[in-house]
This record gives sequence, C-alpha cells and structure tokens, in this order.
Amino acid sequence: MRTKSTLSRRAFVSSAAAAPFSALAAAREENVVVHPQVEIGKIRPELHGHFAEHLGSCVYGGLWVGKNSPVPNLNGHRKQAVDYLKALGIPVLRWPGGCFADDYHWRDGIGPLARRPKRVNIHWGNYTEDNSFGTHEFVELCRLIGAEPYFAGNVGSGTPRELRDWVEYCNYPAGSTLSDERAANGSPEPFRIRYWGVGNENWGCGGRMTPEEYATHYRRFAGYMRNFGTPPYLVACGPNSNDIRWTRGFMDSMQGRGYPHGFALHYYQNMRVEPTKFTADNAAAQLTKFADMEKAIVQQRALLDSYDPERRVGLLIDEWGVWDGMIPAEEKKYGRLWQQNTLRSAVGAALGLNVFHRHAGKLVMGNIAQTVNVLHAMLLAYEDKCIRTPSYYAFELAKPHRAKTAVRAETGDSSPLGLSVSASRQDNELVLTLINPRHDTPLKAACRLSSGRAASATARILHHENFNAANTFEQPDLVVPRPHAAAAEGSRVTIDLPPMSIVTASVRI
Ligand code: AHR
Repeated sequence: MRTKSTLSRRAFVSSAAAAPFSALAAAREENVVVHPQVEIGKIRPELHGHFAEHLGSCVYGGLWVGKNSPVPNLNGHRKQAVDYLKALGIPVLRWPGGCFADDYHWRDGIGPLARRPKRVNIHWGNYTEDNSFGTHEFVELCRLIGAEPYFAGNVGSGTPRELRDWVEYCNYPAGSTLSDERAANGSPEPFRIRYWGVGNENWGCGGRMTPEEYATHYRRFAGYMRNFGTPPYLVACGPNSNDIRWTRGFMDSMQGRGYPHGFALHYYQNMRVEPTKFTADNAAAQLTKFADMEKAIVQQRALLDSYDPERRVGLLIDEWGVWDGMIPAEEKKYGRLWQQNTLRSAVGAALGLNVFHRHAGKLVMGNIAQTVNVLHAMLLAYEDKCIRTPSYYAFELAKPHRAKTAVRAETGDSSPLGLSVSASRQDNELVLTLINPRHDTPLKAACRLSSGRAASATARILHHENFNAANTFEQPDLVVPRPHAAAAEGSRVTIDLPPMSIVTASVRI
C-alpha cells in the first residue's frame, strides 16, 4: 500500500532551511495498517539497553559522586540518577568503555581505595582517575537500578590471562584465590556476569587491527573466558556502521569454528552542529541516518546468516545515537563529549527504538551512548543537579513494548522521514509508537487493524513547537510527555501527530 506524499523528499529538504519551529500546515492523513497476528519476534528488553564509559562526566561526577560527597548519594552513587534510571528500568548497562575499555586494567579498580592507583585516561583528555569506581561499584550500581551488567574486556592493551582472571574473579563461586579475593573485597556471592565484550572497536581505538588480526586475537582471548559458574555470552567486535569488509574478514577468518555468541556493530548518527542550533536541514539530514542504520541491521544480519543460517551468532548494536557538534566551553565545564539533548535528539532515539522493534527478530541488544552527560544521554548531571533529557522520555514512551511480540505495521510513506511506526502485542494489548520526524508537516495517522477491533486507546505524546527545545538545569521540565488523544472506533485508531513528535498508544483489542 502506498499513499502519495504531498511533498517530495527533494522539495521537503529545500523548504527546510527555515527556523526550528513547527510551521502551521494542514494535517496530512497517513494510512497505517497494523497486523496484530503477523509476528516479527519478541522485543527483548535488552534492545532498550544503555552504555556508560569512563569519559568526561558520565561516570565520575555523573553516576558516581563518591561516598563523602555533599551530593545526596547511595554509597557513592548519585541518588537522583539512581532513582531516575531505576524508574526507567534500564535492562542492561555496558561498561567501562568504549575506547576506555581497551586501556582499562580491572585490578586497578578493586580493593581498598587508598591502594587503588591513579591512572591517566589516555583516550578522553589525559586527566587522572582515582579508580574509586571499579568492578564492585559498577555491579552495585547495576543492582541498585535493576540492570544486567555487561562488561567490555580489554583486548587492545590487555592479555588473555587478565581477561580470563576478571571472569573468574566475578563469577567463580568460592574457593579459588581470585574468588576469595572478591569475597574479601565485600562480595562473597559471585557477581554472575553473563555479558562479556571481547574488546571494543578493535578496528580503531582498540588496537587498529585488521579483521583477520582481530579474529586471531578473538580466538585466543575467548578460548580462556570460561564458564566459571555462569556461562558467559561472548560478544565480538563488529563493524563501524555497515562495514561489510570487517564482517566478512572476521567471519572468513573464523573458518566456521568458535563463533562468538554475539557480534556488535556501532552506529552513530553524526552531525557536527551545536545541539541546540540545528536548522531544519540539519535535523532532516541527521534523522535520515536512522534509515541507514536500519539498512545496516538488515544487511549485516543477512551477511551473518550466510555464514551461520541457524543464527547462533546474535547481532548487537552496543553503541548508537546522535553525535552532535561539541561546544568547547561546555566540554571544559562539564567534561568531554558533553552534549545537550533536544526534542530532535529524542525523535532520533525514538526512531532508533522503532527500527529495533521492527527488526526484533534480528537483534539481541542495543545500547545507546551514553547514560549521563555524554553524547545521546538520558540524564544531565552537574554538582547537585540532575535532570532528565527529552531522550529519557523517548525511552520511557517505548517501555510498554518491552517483552511484547513485535507485529507488522505498514505505512504509506516509507521514505526516511516518513511516518515511523512500530507495533507490538501481548494478549489483548496492542502498543503503537508513531513518530513524525518532519519539522513542518502535521500528520493524522489513520491506523487500521487487519484483524480484531479496537475497544479503547490511551496515548502520550512528546512534543514541543521548537525542535531545538531542551531541558536545562534552570528549566528541567520543558520537554516532557503529556496525555494525548487517540480515537478508537471499530478497526480504526486515529492519532494526530504534530511535526517532530512521538506518540505511544496502548490499544485494547
Ligand atoms: O561513545 C564514545 C566513543 O565512541 C566510544 O568510546 C567508542 O567506542 C566510540 O568510537
């Protein structure tokens, strides 16, 4: 089914150099057909995962303020951040990097604080870290917010023995020197860490390897990362964006033996423009890149399938999100890669999540970068202040999809900036997320169910007339979700979508 667009993509882009405010135009009706019985796959909660690196003020000064801080904290963890992340229910948190992971030596972050060494963070500005946030602190944070920990191991500057020992330290129940050391450091119970990354971006900051070199390293490291009481799920470094050459080179070199459980690509939507100064052209160019990420998922999965038709190797996107232009004065004040977050960023987050839902059967995990202060963050924190960004609310609006079964939904306009839809179902609840990524065209989504009737519908919307609107420490609730009208009648649900808006509707069928 196709519905004619009143604006061609070219005409839209050329009309888009305007200000970031919604222009008032007549709403265009978009037809959507939802097939509640056509299942795509389970939406694993892990598709809504997150990532926190030792970078700028994500960990130090963000998540971690220290036990003696005047900032309200829970054993050193910023209380407000814990409360917000717990409420969001983040399913999985990846740590400690990023590029940082391949220069991190886990023994630096265990034992009495006075004995932990100070190390230089070589990737993110050569500042020193006191290692007060280490393995025990990270696991404690995960337990506080209810997230599953995902460790990224050091391949670039580490050894197989070092990584193997980290697994034993974390997971061996009791009786070995390493497990006894963990107990002496306060955790007699094993941490039972399941997810382990075997390096990070080893084609770049993780050692500048060729895929063939990395495959050799992968085999060597993975061979010693054993089941010390918890079967590890080993994640190999995948490509930058949709780099087919990396995936082919790695899989060819594995020669069908010892495939990883997971293979993680990274996909950033770069647009080096100051976050609150996007023009309509800039926004359109960045939001279009989510369609490229969708293509990457389809093509990378198909390539993996050609080696592994039974899909024993899962596909992850363990770093993704909008990467805007940094403002030097803000980076100086708040730390490296500090990025303000606007309604446009939230629309990007929601587009990414809709892509994941639509390809739920192809993906194991997604981790947006990063949780606090850095890049596409959920929270901004400084001194004693901590606020939720519009992207936090994009994740909140997507939450009802978790653990439901994704079902097919077709729209009339499949162009990158057309109405984006994802749908999921469980029993008699159907959840729809509809996104209007255009800055100047209000839409009326006319959703028809191909089976069943819509008894009732409730909805919430995230919208502001200015797509550069952001929540700030002074005005923390400028962009927040609000209740929204959704009309259910017979097999139809009708929802208005102003320009640059995200709506999630829960429909009783
Ligand atoms: O998220 C910031 C950086 O982006 C990470 O450290 C690295 O993995 C990626 O290039």
